[in-house]
Amino acid sequence: MFSKRTNWNLEQNAYTRALGRHRKSGRHILDLTASNPTECGFQYDQAAILGSLRDPTALRYEPEPKGLPHARAAVAAYYDQMRPAVRVDPERLILTTGTSEAYSFLFRLLCEPGDEVLIAHPSYPLFEFLATIHDVKLRPISLVYDHGWQIDFHTLRNAIGSRSRAILLVHPNNPTGHFVAQHEAAELNALCKQHELALVIDEVFLDYSWRPAPQSRVRHASFASNVDALTFALSGLSKISALPQMKIGWIAANGPDASVRDAIARLEIIADTYLSLSAPMQHALPTLLDQWRTMQPQIMARVEENLRQLDEQLSRQKLVSRLAAEGGWYAVLRVPAVRSDEELAIRLLDQRSVSVHPGHFYDFSSEGHLVVSLLAPTDDFKAGIAALLECLAAS
Ligand SMILES: Cc1ncc(COP(=O)(O)O)c(C=O)c1O
Repeated sequence: MFSKRTNWNLEQNAYTRALGRHRKSGRHILDLTASNPTECGFQYDQAAILGSLRDPTALRYEPEPKGLPHARAAVAAYYDQMRPAVRVDPERLILTTGTSEAYSFLFRLLCEPGDEVLIAHPSYPLFEFLATIHDVKLRPISLVYDHGWQIDFHTLRNAIGSRSRAILLVHPNNPTGHFVAQHEAAELNALCKQHELALVIDEVFLDYSWRPAPQSRVRHASFASNVDALTFALSGLSKISALPQMKIGWIAANGPDASVRDAIARLEIIADTYLSLSAPMQHALPTLLDQWRTMQPQIMARVEENLRQLDEQLSRQKLVSRLAAEGGWYAVLRVPAVRSDEELAIRLLDQRSVSVHPGHFYDFSSEGHLVVSLLAPTDDFKAGIAALLECLAAS
Protein backbone atom coordinates (compact mmCIF):
# COMPACT_ATOMS: atom_id res chain seq x y z
CA MET A 1 0.00 0.00 0.00
CA PHE A 2 2.86 2.43 0.83
CA SER A 3 5.63 3.87 -1.31
CA LYS A 4 9.05 2.18 -1.21
CA ARG A 5 10.64 5.48 -0.27
CA THR A 6 8.91 5.31 3.12
CA ASN A 7 9.99 1.75 3.75
CA TRP A 8 12.13 2.77 6.71
CA ASN A 9 13.23 0.52 9.50
CA LEU A 10 11.07 2.08 12.22
CA GLU A 11 12.61 0.11 15.05
CA GLN A 12 14.53 2.20 17.55
CA ASN A 13 18.29 1.67 17.51
CA ALA A 14 20.03 0.23 20.59
CA TYR A 15 21.21 3.68 21.76
CA THR A 16 17.74 5.24 21.57
CA ARG A 17 16.29 2.27 23.46
CA ALA A 18 18.94 2.68 26.17
CA LEU A 19 18.16 6.40 26.41
CA GLY A 20 14.44 5.63 26.75
CA ARG A 21 15.16 3.21 29.62
CA HIS A 22 17.23 5.84 31.41
CA ARG A 23 14.64 8.56 31.02
CA LYS A 24 11.97 6.21 32.39
CA SER A 25 14.11 5.40 35.42
CA GLY A 26 14.07 9.11 36.31
CA ARG A 27 17.86 9.25 36.81
CA HIS A 28 19.48 12.62 36.02
CA ILE A 29 21.28 12.40 32.70
CA LEU A 30 24.35 14.52 32.02
CA ASP A 31 23.18 15.38 28.54
CA LEU A 32 26.10 16.16 26.24
CA THR A 33 23.76 16.04 23.25
CA ALA A 34 21.67 19.04 24.39
CA SER A 35 21.47 21.32 21.38
CA ASN A 36 17.96 22.72 21.56
CA PRO A 37 18.79 26.33 22.51
CA THR A 38 15.34 26.91 24.01
CA GLU A 39 16.19 24.33 26.70
CA CYS A 40 19.76 25.31 27.53
CA GLY A 41 19.12 28.14 29.98
CA PHE A 42 19.61 31.15 27.67
CA GLN A 43 17.80 34.43 28.33
CA TYR A 44 15.32 35.37 25.61
CA ASP A 45 13.70 38.79 25.25
CA GLN A 46 10.21 37.45 25.88
CA ALA A 47 8.46 40.80 25.50
CA ALA A 48 9.98 41.49 22.09
CA ILE A 49 9.48 37.95 20.79
CA LEU A 50 5.89 37.54 21.91
CA GLY A 51 5.07 41.16 21.02
CA SER A 52 6.23 40.56 17.44
CA LEU A 53 3.52 37.91 17.04
CA ARG A 54 0.75 40.40 17.78
CA ASP A 55 1.19 42.69 14.79
CA PRO A 56 -2.33 43.66 13.61
CA THR A 57 -1.19 43.79 9.98
CA ALA A 58 -1.03 39.98 10.24
CA LEU A 59 -4.84 40.01 10.06
CA ARG A 60 -4.54 40.59 6.30
CA TYR A 61 -3.75 37.77 3.90
CA GLU A 62 -1.33 38.86 1.18
CA PRO A 63 -0.16 35.74 -0.68
CA GLU A 64 3.43 36.35 -1.76
CA PRO A 65 5.27 33.15 -2.85
CA LYS A 66 8.80 34.43 -2.14
CA GLY A 67 7.74 35.91 1.21
CA LEU A 68 6.52 39.41 2.10
CA PRO A 69 8.86 42.13 0.77
CA HIS A 70 9.61 43.66 4.18
CA ALA A 71 10.42 40.22 5.62
CA ARG A 72 12.87 39.58 2.76
CA ALA A 73 14.32 43.08 3.24
CA ALA A 74 15.03 42.15 6.89
CA VAL A 75 16.96 39.07 5.74
CA ALA A 76 18.95 41.20 3.27
CA ALA A 77 19.71 43.65 6.12
CA TYR A 78 21.00 40.75 8.25
CA TYR A 79 23.54 39.91 5.51
CA ASP A 80 24.37 43.58 5.09
CA GLN A 81 25.54 43.91 8.72
CA MET A 82 28.09 41.10 8.30
CA ARG A 83 31.71 42.24 8.16
CA PRO A 84 32.61 42.38 5.34
CA ALA A 85 29.03 43.16 4.29
CA VAL A 86 27.31 40.58 2.09
CA ARG A 87 25.00 42.14 -0.50
CA VAL A 88 21.87 40.06 -1.01
CA ASP A 89 19.15 41.12 -3.44
CA PRO A 90 15.76 40.58 -1.71
CA GLU A 91 14.38 39.54 -5.13
CA ARG A 92 16.74 36.56 -4.99
CA LEU A 93 15.47 35.38 -1.62
CA ILE A 94 12.80 32.74 -1.04
CA LEU A 95 11.49 32.41 2.51
CA THR A 96 10.64 28.90 3.71
CA THR A 97 9.36 27.21 6.86
CA GLY A 98 12.84 26.22 8.06
CA THR A 99 15.76 24.90 6.07
CA SER A 100 14.19 21.44 5.65
CA GLU A 101 11.57 22.99 3.40
CA ALA A 102 14.34 24.87 1.58
CA TYR A 103 16.01 21.52 0.81
CA SER A 104 12.71 20.15 -0.35
CA PHE A 105 12.27 23.06 -2.80
CA LEU A 106 15.84 22.71 -4.09
CA PHE A 107 15.69 18.95 -4.60
CA ARG A 108 12.46 19.51 -6.54
CA LEU A 109 14.07 22.31 -8.56
CA LEU A 110 17.28 20.47 -9.46
CA CYS A 111 16.67 16.72 -9.54
CA GLU A 112 14.74 14.10 -11.48
CA PRO A 113 13.99 10.91 -9.50
CA GLY A 114 17.26 9.00 -9.11
CA ASP A 115 19.52 12.02 -9.70
CA GLU A 116 22.41 12.51 -7.32
CA VAL A 117 23.59 15.17 -4.93
CA LEU A 118 27.18 14.93 -3.75
CA ILE A 119 27.48 15.52 -0.04
CA ALA A 120 30.46 15.87 2.28
CA HIS A 121 30.49 13.34 5.14
CA PRO A 122 30.42 13.26 8.15
CA SER A 123 27.35 15.45 8.24
CA TYR A 124 23.88 16.21 9.60
CA PRO A 125 21.81 12.95 9.62
CA LEU A 126 18.55 14.52 8.40
CA PHE A 127 19.87 14.91 4.83
CA GLU A 128 19.47 11.20 4.09
CA PHE A 129 15.75 11.39 4.93
CA LEU A 130 15.21 14.66 3.07
CA ALA A 131 16.82 13.20 -0.03
CA THR A 132 14.96 9.88 0.12
CA ILE A 133 11.60 11.58 0.49
CA HIS A 134 12.34 13.45 -2.75
CA ASP A 135 13.73 10.40 -4.64
CA VAL A 136 17.18 11.93 -4.65
CA LYS A 137 20.31 9.83 -4.07
CA LEU A 138 23.02 11.24 -1.84
CA ARG A 139 26.54 10.42 -2.97
CA PRO A 140 28.81 10.75 0.09
CA ILE A 141 32.26 12.28 -0.26
CA SER A 142 34.36 11.74 2.85
CA LEU A 143 35.98 14.81 4.32
CA VAL A 144 39.61 14.16 5.22
CA TYR A 145 41.02 14.94 8.65
CA ASP A 146 44.64 16.01 8.91
CA HIS A 147 45.10 18.60 11.70
CA GLY A 148 41.79 20.00 10.41
CA TRP A 149 39.06 18.96 7.99
CA GLN A 150 39.41 19.31 4.25
CA ILE A 151 37.44 18.45 1.16
CA ASP A 152 38.98 15.53 -0.74
CA PHE A 153 38.81 16.99 -4.26
CA HIS A 154 40.29 13.89 -5.85
CA THR A 155 37.38 11.76 -4.56
CA LEU A 156 34.89 14.52 -5.31
CA ARG A 157 36.02 14.80 -8.94
CA ASN A 158 35.83 11.04 -9.43
CA ALA A 159 32.36 10.87 -7.92
CA ILE A 160 30.80 13.34 -10.35
CA GLY A 161 28.71 11.40 -12.84
CA SER A 162 26.01 11.92 -15.46
CA ARG A 163 23.28 12.05 -12.78
CA SER A 164 25.04 14.49 -10.48
CA ARG A 165 23.09 17.72 -10.05
CA ALA A 166 24.55 19.53 -7.08
CA ILE A 167 27.22 19.61 -4.39
CA LEU A 168 25.90 20.07 -0.85
CA LEU A 169 28.11 21.38 1.94
CA VAL A 170 27.45 22.69 5.41
CA HIS A 171 29.53 25.81 6.16
CA PRO A 172 30.66 25.40 8.93
CA ASN A 173 29.86 21.72 8.96
CA ASN A 174 27.79 19.95 11.59
CA PRO A 175 29.37 18.19 13.48
CA THR A 176 32.99 18.69 12.30
CA GLY A 177 33.00 22.51 12.60
CA HIS A 178 34.90 22.84 9.32
CA PHE A 179 34.42 26.01 7.24
CA VAL A 180 34.90 25.83 3.50
CA ALA A 181 38.25 27.52 2.93
CA GLN A 182 38.65 30.22 0.30
CA HIS A 183 40.78 28.02 -1.95
CA GLU A 184 38.21 25.20 -1.62
CA ALA A 185 35.42 27.58 -2.68
CA ALA A 186 37.37 28.48 -5.83
CA GLU A 187 37.81 24.80 -6.68
CA LEU A 188 34.12 24.07 -5.99
CA ASN A 189 33.11 26.89 -8.33
CA ALA A 190 35.35 25.57 -11.08
CA LEU A 191 33.92 22.05 -10.73
CA CYS A 192 30.34 23.33 -10.73
CA LYS A 193 30.95 25.38 -13.86
CA GLN A 194 32.67 22.50 -15.63
CA HIS A 195 29.95 19.93 -14.83
CA GLU A 196 26.89 22.22 -14.70
CA LEU A 197 26.26 21.52 -11.03
CA ALA A 198 24.62 23.78 -8.48
CA LEU A 199 26.18 24.55 -5.12
CA VAL A 200 23.91 24.12 -2.12
CA ILE A 201 25.52 25.58 0.99
CA ASP A 202 23.88 25.25 4.38
CA GLU A 203 25.06 28.22 6.46
CA VAL A 204 22.88 27.86 9.54
CA PHE A 205 25.98 27.95 11.80
CA LEU A 206 27.84 30.66 9.84
CA ASP A 207 27.72 33.21 12.67
CA TYR A 208 29.25 30.79 15.18
CA SER A 209 32.87 31.12 14.20
CA TRP A 210 35.36 30.35 16.98
CA ARG A 211 38.39 32.51 17.60
CA PRO A 212 40.81 31.65 14.82
CA ALA A 213 43.48 29.12 15.74
CA PRO A 214 47.03 30.16 14.80
CA GLN A 215 47.12 27.69 11.87
CA SER A 216 43.61 28.67 10.72
CA ARG A 217 43.00 28.69 6.97
CA VAL A 218 41.30 31.61 5.24
CA ARG A 219 37.58 30.88 5.54
CA HIS A 220 35.18 31.63 2.77
CA ALA A 221 32.59 34.27 3.66
CA SER A 222 28.88 33.64 3.08
CA PHE A 223 28.13 31.86 -0.19
CA ALA A 224 25.12 34.16 -0.56
CA SER A 225 27.49 36.46 -2.49
CA ASN A 226 29.00 33.70 -4.64
CA VAL A 227 28.59 34.61 -8.31
CA ASP A 228 30.87 32.09 -10.01
CA ALA A 229 28.41 29.17 -10.00
CA LEU A 230 24.67 28.79 -9.47
CA THR A 231 24.57 28.88 -5.67
CA PHE A 232 21.86 28.45 -3.07
CA ALA A 233 22.85 29.57 0.43
CA LEU A 234 20.48 28.34 3.14
CA SER A 235 19.97 29.71 6.61
CA GLY A 236 17.28 30.59 9.10
CA LEU A 237 16.17 31.62 12.55
CA SER A 238 16.84 28.29 14.24
CA LYS A 239 20.54 28.98 14.75
CA ILE A 240 20.99 32.70 13.90
CA SER A 241 18.52 33.78 16.58
CA ALA A 242 18.31 30.47 18.49
CA LEU A 243 14.60 30.27 17.64
CA PRO A 244 14.06 26.84 16.01
CA GLN A 245 10.39 26.81 17.03
CA MET A 246 9.61 29.81 14.80
CA LYS A 247 10.26 27.74 11.68
CA ILE A 248 11.61 30.36 9.31
CA GLY A 249 14.42 29.73 6.90
CA TRP A 250 15.39 30.94 3.47
CA ILE A 251 17.21 30.30 0.24
CA ALA A 252 19.51 33.07 -1.05
CA ALA A 253 20.20 32.40 -4.71
CA ASN A 254 23.20 33.81 -6.57
CA GLY A 255 25.40 33.07 -9.57
CA PRO A 256 25.29 33.78 -13.29
CA ASP A 257 22.31 36.11 -13.91
CA ALA A 258 20.42 33.99 -16.44
CA SER A 259 20.60 30.84 -14.27
CA VAL A 260 19.54 32.75 -11.15
CA ARG A 261 16.58 34.32 -12.96
CA ASP A 262 15.40 30.89 -14.14
CA ALA A 263 15.95 29.32 -10.74
CA ILE A 264 14.02 32.06 -8.91
CA ALA A 265 11.09 31.89 -11.37
CA ARG A 266 10.82 28.13 -10.85
CA LEU A 267 11.28 28.32 -7.08
CA GLU A 268 8.55 30.92 -6.97
CA ILE A 269 6.12 28.46 -8.53
CA ILE A 270 7.15 25.71 -6.13
CA ALA A 271 6.66 28.11 -3.20
CA ASP A 272 3.35 29.37 -4.65
CA THR A 273 2.05 25.79 -4.65
CA TYR A 274 2.33 25.62 -0.87
CA LEU A 275 2.36 29.23 0.41
CA SER A 276 3.41 27.64 3.66
CA LEU A 277 4.69 30.63 5.64
CA SER A 278 2.06 32.21 7.87
CA ALA A 279 1.46 35.98 7.87
CA PRO A 280 2.13 36.44 11.64
CA MET A 281 5.55 34.81 11.28
CA GLN A 282 6.51 36.92 8.28
CA HIS A 283 5.48 40.13 10.04
CA ALA A 284 7.42 39.02 13.11
CA LEU A 285 10.55 38.12 11.13
CA PRO A 286 12.38 41.48 11.39
CA THR A 287 12.10 41.42 15.21
CA LEU A 288 12.84 37.71 15.50
CA LEU A 289 15.88 37.95 13.27
CA ASP A 290 17.16 40.88 15.29
CA GLN A 291 17.32 38.64 18.38
CA TRP A 292 20.73 37.47 17.14
CA ARG A 293 22.18 40.55 18.83
CA THR A 294 21.42 39.22 22.31
CA MET A 295 21.36 35.48 21.63
CA GLN A 296 24.65 35.01 19.79
CA PRO A 297 26.85 36.55 22.53
CA GLN A 298 25.23 34.22 25.11
CA ILE A 299 25.70 31.18 22.90
CA MET A 300 29.28 32.05 21.97
CA ALA A 301 30.13 32.58 25.65
CA ARG A 302 28.70 29.12 26.46
CA VAL A 303 30.49 27.45 23.54
CA GLU A 304 33.81 29.07 24.44
CA GLU A 305 33.51 28.22 28.14
CA ASN A 306 32.59 24.59 27.42
CA LEU A 307 35.45 24.32 24.93
CA ARG A 308 37.83 25.70 27.55
CA GLN A 309 36.57 23.18 30.11
CA LEU A 310 36.85 20.38 27.59
CA ASP A 311 40.39 21.25 26.54
CA GLU A 312 41.47 21.69 30.14
CA GLN A 313 40.21 18.20 31.10
CA LEU A 314 41.62 16.65 27.94
CA SER A 315 45.05 18.15 28.63
CA ARG A 316 45.29 16.03 31.81
CA GLN A 317 45.12 12.68 29.98
CA LYS A 318 46.20 11.09 26.71
CA LEU A 319 43.42 8.64 25.82
CA VAL A 320 40.92 11.05 24.28
CA SER A 321 41.56 14.06 22.07
CA ARG A 322 39.43 16.73 20.38
CA LEU A 323 39.53 17.11 16.62
CA ALA A 324 40.41 20.59 15.42
CA ALA A 325 37.40 22.68 14.45
CA GLU A 326 36.66 26.29 13.58
CA GLY A 327 33.03 26.87 14.46
CA GLY A 328 29.53 25.60 15.21
CA TRP A 329 27.95 24.12 18.33
CA TYR A 330 29.70 20.73 18.51
CA ALA A 331 33.01 19.08 19.34
CA VAL A 332 34.19 15.75 17.99
CA LEU A 333 36.13 13.52 20.36
CA ARG A 334 38.58 10.92 19.12
CA VAL A 335 38.34 7.92 21.43
CA PRO A 336 40.02 4.48 21.37
CA ALA A 337 38.09 2.32 18.88
CA VAL A 338 38.09 -0.77 21.07
CA ARG A 339 34.34 -1.20 20.65
CA SER A 340 31.74 0.37 18.37
CA ASP A 341 30.82 4.00 19.01
CA GLU A 342 27.26 2.92 19.74
CA GLU A 343 28.37 0.35 22.34
CA LEU A 344 30.55 3.00 23.92
CA ALA A 345 27.70 5.53 24.03
CA ILE A 346 25.42 2.94 25.67
CA ARG A 347 28.13 2.07 28.19
CA LEU A 348 28.48 5.76 29.09
CA LEU A 349 24.74 5.94 29.68
CA ASP A 350 24.54 2.74 31.70
CA GLN A 351 27.63 3.29 33.83
CA ARG A 352 27.80 7.09 34.18
CA SER A 353 24.43 8.47 33.04
CA VAL A 354 26.20 10.51 30.36
CA SER A 355 24.59 10.87 26.98
CA VAL A 356 26.70 11.53 23.85
CA HIS A 357 26.14 10.95 20.16
CA PRO A 358 28.03 8.03 18.63
CA GLY A 359 29.97 9.12 15.54
CA HIS A 360 28.06 6.78 13.25
CA PHE A 361 24.95 8.98 13.62
CA TYR A 362 26.88 11.43 11.42
CA ASP A 363 28.49 8.83 9.14
CA PHE A 364 32.11 9.13 10.23
CA SER A 365 34.17 6.86 8.00
CA SER A 366 35.55 4.89 10.97
CA GLU A 367 34.74 4.02 14.58
CA GLY A 368 36.36 5.95 17.41
CA HIS A 369 34.36 9.20 17.35
CA LEU A 370 31.89 10.70 19.80
CA VAL A 371 30.08 14.00 19.25
CA VAL A 372 29.28 16.34 22.14
CA SER A 373 27.20 19.50 22.05
CA LEU A 374 28.85 22.65 23.39
CA LEU A 375 25.48 24.18 24.26
CA ALA A 376 24.86 22.11 27.39
CA PRO A 377 24.79 24.13 30.65
CA THR A 378 28.44 24.33 31.76
CA ASP A 379 28.08 22.51 35.12
CA ASP A 380 26.50 19.50 33.39
CA PHE A 381 29.03 19.72 30.58
CA LYS A 382 32.00 19.72 32.99
CA ALA A 383 30.61 16.85 35.04
CA GLY A 384 29.67 14.92 31.89
CA ILE A 385 33.14 15.22 30.34
CA ALA A 386 34.80 14.23 33.65
CA ALA A 387 32.54 11.14 33.89
CA LEU A 388 33.19 10.27 30.24
CA LEU A 389 36.96 10.43 30.69
CA GLU A 390 36.81 8.37 33.90
CA CYS A 391 34.69 5.72 32.23
CA LEU A 392 37.03 5.49 29.24
CA ALA A 393 40.11 5.33 31.47
CA ALA A 394 38.53 2.49 33.46
CA SER A 395 37.63 0.36 30.45
C1 LIG B 1 23.28 21.61 9.20
C2 LIG B 1 21.88 21.90 9.65
N1 LIG B 1 20.99 22.42 8.79
C3 LIG B 1 19.72 22.70 9.17
C4 LIG B 1 19.30 22.45 10.46
C5 LIG B 1 17.88 22.72 10.86
O1 LIG B 1 17.46 23.95 10.50
P1 LIG B 1 15.89 24.35 10.55
O2 LIG B 1 15.49 24.29 11.96
O3 LIG B 1 15.88 25.70 9.97
O4 LIG B 1 15.14 23.37 9.68
C6 LIG B 1 20.18 21.88 11.38
C7 LIG B 1 19.75 21.59 12.75
O5 LIG B 1 20.48 21.19 13.61
C8 LIG B 1 21.50 21.60 10.96
O6 LIG B 1 22.38 21.04 11.81
